[in-house]
Amino acid sequence: MENLMDKIVSLAKRRGFIFPSSEIYGGFSSCYDYGPIGVELKNNIKKEWWKTMVHDREDIVGLDSSILMSPKIWYASGHLTAGFADPLVECKKCKKRFRADHIKEQAATKCPECGGELSEARKFNLMMKTFVGPVENDASVTYLRAETCQGIYVNFKNVLDSMRPKIPFGIAQIGKAFRNEITPGNFTYRMREFEQMEQQFFIKPGENKKYFEEWKKIRMQWYIDLGINKEKLKFHEHAKEDLAHYAKAAFDIEYDFPFENKELEGIHDRGDWDLSNHAKASKQDLSYFDTKENKKFVPNIIETSAGADRAALAFLVDAYHEEKVKDDTRIVLKFHPKLAPIKIAVLPLAKNKKEITDVARKIFNDLKTKFVAMYDDSGSIGKLYRRQDEIGTPFCVTIDFDSLEDKKVTVRDRDTMEQERVEIDGLKDYFEKKLG
Ligand code: GAP
Repeated sequence: MENLMDKIVSLAKRRGFIFPSSEIYGGFSSCYDYGPIGVELKNNIKKEWWKTMVHDREDIVGLDSSILMSPKIWYASGHLTAGFADPLVECKKCKKRFRADHIKEQAATKCPECGGELSEARKFNLMMKTFVGPVENDASVTYLRAETCQGIYVNFKNVLDSMRPKIPFGIAQIGKAFRNEITPGNFTYRMREFEQMEQQFFIKPGENKKYFEEWKKIRMQWYIDLGINKEKLKFHEHAKEDLAHYAKAAFDIEYDFPFENKELEGIHDRGDWDLSNHAKASKQDLSYFDTKENKKFVPNIIETSAGADRAALAFLVDAYHEEKVKDDTRIVLKFHPKLAPIKIAVLPLAKNKKEITDVARKIFNDLKTKFVAMYDDSGSIGKLYRRQDEIGTPFCVTIDFDSLEDKKVTVRDRDTMEQERVEIDGLKDYFEKKLG
């Protein structure tokens, strides 16, 4: 299904979802920009994540920590010492670099590009280095965060002291992360700058298995509830030798992308690795006092770590449908209404007739107070419908000459293409029921 990926990349650019970064300068490897429609999709994904992970729960609070942090954090976390590195091999002939584990997966022994001989694998650290302040020396070195969760661990005590949560409880945040990936690729699947939606659940040691299983179920269900075809989702358990340096156990939620079954989100049992190491390195007490049991302990952590970009890509791929309509092929994105970038399009049938555009503008102004709506009169109705289908708008409202007489409009359903006449005065209630 390589072809499907080409179609998605082309649609993403054509319809304003995702553009290559720095395109007018020839692009910038592995970075992408979300366009006017894509940013709505990604924001809706983040909004749904925040709602289910923070607002709907009594036991999870939010956080927004900085991207630049003390480099001491990355030594204590193990990212600069224990193994946040991928095995790198270089082709002796064309000098291209590859991840040795990816080459092994492809059962290749020579350079996949030119067939040249490959070097021995060496460890390549993925942290992105930068300098803070005007002087570039060892003392000013720091790193762009490689995972957002470290900002959560170093604020554990602040949250404990200010919010007084009782264990078990979670801290959640959404934000950018950076990794100097050796081989980024597959569109937005593997980038060097990306966004994570991470939640750390602090628990009593010994209760790891129970909460690990609970979080696996909750996170899998989140994708299903937002409309992803559940046949395309599965768990993948990490073998002991493949575990990240911080993890005692890990399961990925995988999606069947057109290029491969690949990780969408990781659920990790991090034990007390993070809090113990930060307590040791910072010489701060990062333990929790359980008043019920009159006991102090270092909490263990069950982490749920999702990629906002990977989720957006999976929702985009999953929503993509091609349907035969008479002699034509209709491309339609069947997003869950909660994720659809635009909920309602208002389309006047005659853009030169003021009586019609006046009514259409009035309807649009009214609907946009409640729903994300778009006004479009820039083409024939066939073209306008095609555009809305390709960005996944659940409903189109058309205003025609009859609307001036009967005070009704035509509402077209994206998925069934069925149309019904609805009273203009009742439109808001109608969509309230349909879209919630
Ligand atoms: N805090 C744990 C952690 O960062 P991870 O499995 O390395 O775990 C979690 O990353 C999620 O972040 C992944 O499942 C993926 O969705 C996203 N992610 C990681 N690297 C990425 C990259 N290079 N490009 C896009 N998303 C990435």
